[in-house]
Amino acid sequence: MASTNERDIQPTSAADSSGAKTQDSESSPEKLYGELLALSRVSAAVSGLRDLDATLEVALDTMLETMDGSIGGILLIDEQTQTLTYRVYRGLSDKFAEEMTLKLGEGIAGRVAQTGKSVLVEDLSTDPRAAWHDLISTEGLKAFISVPLRAKDTVLGVLNVASRSPRHFTKDDMHLLHAIGDQVGVAIEQAELYDQLRKERENYRWLARHMLIAQEEERGRVARELHDETSQSLTGLSLNMQALMEIANASDFGDAAFKAKLEKAHNITLQLGSEISKIMKSLRPIALDSLGLGPAIRQFAESRLQPAGINVSATYEGMEERFPSEVEFGLYRIAQGAIANIAWHSQAKNAVISVRRTSAELIMQIEDDGNGFDASRPIEVDESGRGRGLFSMKERASLLGGTCDIHSQPGKGTKITVKVPVYWSKADARDKGTDSR
Ligand SMILES: Nc1ncnc2c1ncn2[C@@H]1O[C@H](COP(=O)(O)OP(=O)(O)O)[C@@H](O)[C@H]1O
Ligand SMILES: [Mg+2]
Repeated sequence: MASTNERDIQPTSAADSSGAKTQDSESSPEKLYGELLALSRVSAAVSGLRDLDATLEVALDTMLETMDGSIGGILLIDEQTQTLTYRVYRGLSDKFAEEMTLKLGEGIAGRVAQTGKSVLVEDLSTDPRAAWHDLISTEGLKAFISVPLRAKDTVLGVLNVASRSPRHFTKDDMHLLHAIGDQVGVAIEQAELYDQLRKERENYRWLARHMLIAQEEERGRVARELHDETSQSLTGLSLNMQALMEIANASDFGDAAFKAKLEKAHNITLQLGSEISKIMKSLRPIALDSLGLGPAIRQFAESRLQPAGINVSATYEGMEERFPSEVEFGLYRIAQGAIANIAWHSQAKNAVISVRRTSAELIMQIEDDGNGFDASRPIEVDESGRGRGLFSMKERASLLGGTCDIHSQPGKGTKITVKVPVYWSKADARDKGTDSR
């Protein structure tokens, strides 16, 4: 038979249980104090937790401890399927928790999720509203409280507490749980929002990384095309023009103006060739292929900073072996960005650059004694693209499984430290000189 003493209450807080007061819920000062204590314990336990499962587990454990109980669980609503399933539980068999799936409105917890009202049952095994009678009787559940977990006006799930003896809980227990449910609801909402933010950030980082890879590949492709097609054709053009000039000179063909024009055209071809070679160099640094990372960085730093009157000290250590292409390119591009920043922004007198390999890491430091900037603020990329350089330095380092620490203060110079682990196998390393890129 159904319990005659089951009651639904309106979703009010424990302290304000208007419309649901019975003789066992008269709020004596001691009771109120106990409830407040329980509430503050749960609230302290869940506040600041960002992981949803951790939040739910802490909430459930603190709540069971507060109620001196050992059986309970939290079911969450799946928005898409509109069903409730156990997310965390204690004292219930795995079979029970895994098989218990309720549609909204189905069974007692389903009803609580749908209406937002708590339910107190004295004996679940005889309650006609309960679903899954077989599971319930196998589990031996009798007394039962189910309360909604709400954030604002939305029910996110249900918190159940059960006992294997009937008439175990009082209405006070239910009121207290109801208030706890509101606390937990807000914590769940926060954890879900945080989770969403984390996932979106992961997507964003994934995209940023792949854009960096794609950019490098595209640069390589354009450089190769310039080398294989454009440069070759220009060389052919230049040779032909030279031959024409020789023919014109030898056979006295054409007047002086014609010959001058021919020579001018030849010079333009040569100039075009050197401009294309400059573009190829910046797209695909040849020094990196031919000299290796340390010397290539030193060459770039000297060529970029010395003309600006900045004194450069660049050293490298333990860099005899070649590293995988993405490591060399990644570090080289970071160095390019940091060195370009010194040239553009720092007004430094000195720049000190070091690259060294330890047994576990490749460490690159690029330091200047210029005017610095506030690096404690999170990097923001503005519309003009300012910030993109620093952002991509960090992304490139993390793409290589490493870190890029940017240390700077106004008036105190800038120091960039990049650390990349060296866990790649020897087989991955490029053979010096065999890579034609
Ligand atoms: N070495 C440096 N010295 C002084 N300021 C720097 C240095 N590196 C970066 N900055 C500051 O950080 C900003 C962001 O740098 P970055 O992301 O490379 O973008 P951009 O160089 O396009 O402005 C710069 O505009 C500059 O104000
Ligand atoms: Mg920059």
